[in-house]
Amino acid sequence: MEREQLWQQAEDFIRVCYAELNKSEEELADRLEEVKKALADLGAYTHTQEELTHGAKMAWRNSNRCIGRLFWETLEVVDARALSTDDEMAEALFRHLELATHGGRIRPVITVFRASSAARPDARIWNRQLIRYAGYKTENGIVGDPISAEFTSFCQSLGWRGEGTPYDVLPLVLSMESEAPSLYEIPKELVLEVPIEHPDYPETAKLGLRWYAVPIVSDMRLEIGGISYSAAPFNGWYMGTEIGARNLADEDRYNLQPVMARIMGLDTARESSLWKDRALLELNAAVLHSFKKNGVAIVDHHTAAQQFKRFEDNENKRGRAVTGDWSWLIPPVSPAATPIFHSTYENRTVTPNFFYR
Ligand code: ARG
Repeated sequence: MEREQLWQQAEDFIRVCYAELNKSEEELADRLEEVKKALADLGAYTHTQEELTHGAKMAWRNSNRCIGRLFWETLEVVDARALSTDDEMAEALFRHLELATHGGRIRPVITVFRASSAARPDARIWNRQLIRYAGYKTENGIVGDPISAEFTSFCQSLGWRGEGTPYDVLPLVLSMESEAPSLYEIPKELVLEVPIEHPDYPETAKLGLRWYAVPIVSDMRLEIGGISYSAAPFNGWYMGTEIGARNLADEDRYNLQPVMARIMGLDTARESSLWKDRALLELNAAVLHSFKKNGVAIVDHHTAAQQFKRFEDNENKRGRAVTGDWSWLIPPVSPAATPIFHSTYENRTVTPNFFYR
């Protein structure tokens, strides 16, 4: 980034951040002076712990596609900027898993690794989520999660061999020291999973379906005040539809709508029997039921939509405009039954924010 542009972004961020943190005019002026000098001398500046923490929370608040933003202030920010080896990175990610999973009472957490700099390669997490299931290409199609097929082949090319079940957790693929990544198997005890069953269709339990408890997005760059953090994995808890209406249901994922329809004895020969809708609905009911039963935090889409409305109210009260991406904010089942469907949002990008790498 150009120095002038970097200064502009730094200044904008520090001003907003310090105002939100109720810092004095004097403190603001001193800090701006300091940042200006650092930029002139080194071409970069370093966030204070406070700036990093509040900046990461702002990035969540500004995430237009996220329906869960009511809780932005509760984000736990782990400062891992001092780490420099792949081993240390793996260790920090294992701690992230523990802190976030919290025995099922999931806590929103972000772990921030060192900032990008011209002087060395970016810290990089090659996984798209810290926990995801492998997808193996076989003669009979893909075993596991097709969304991970390419990444699974990549892991295999690095020497990894999975068991070959439909729910093998992929290894962490990390690089901090050079462009060449290191592989780390995630210890089993750190991966909380939920076996999926349905209260009214016992057959469902026999399918052996499962899903992991914590979605930890690891393929986005965190940008705060012009500084980029290339590795900054973050998590919330799941909204049921992400699993029940997409991961388990999409034709190019686990494709379980026909399976659920068979268990339910639906007429799949006629579209107008609405077998897809019925199967989808019960898959979602199964996910919510199973997470509850196992004491793992999850939110249904109606509750999440109400929480989002509260977020909008809060923001308006504080004089901030809420931006949003409507097509992502509406849930994939019964969207028109939520207030979000009937609202419009300005899909403008405000920083700090998360960006695809
Ligand atoms: N949709 C993604 C998945 O199903 C997870 C994205 C983040 N979700 C969240 N609830 N924080 O794995």
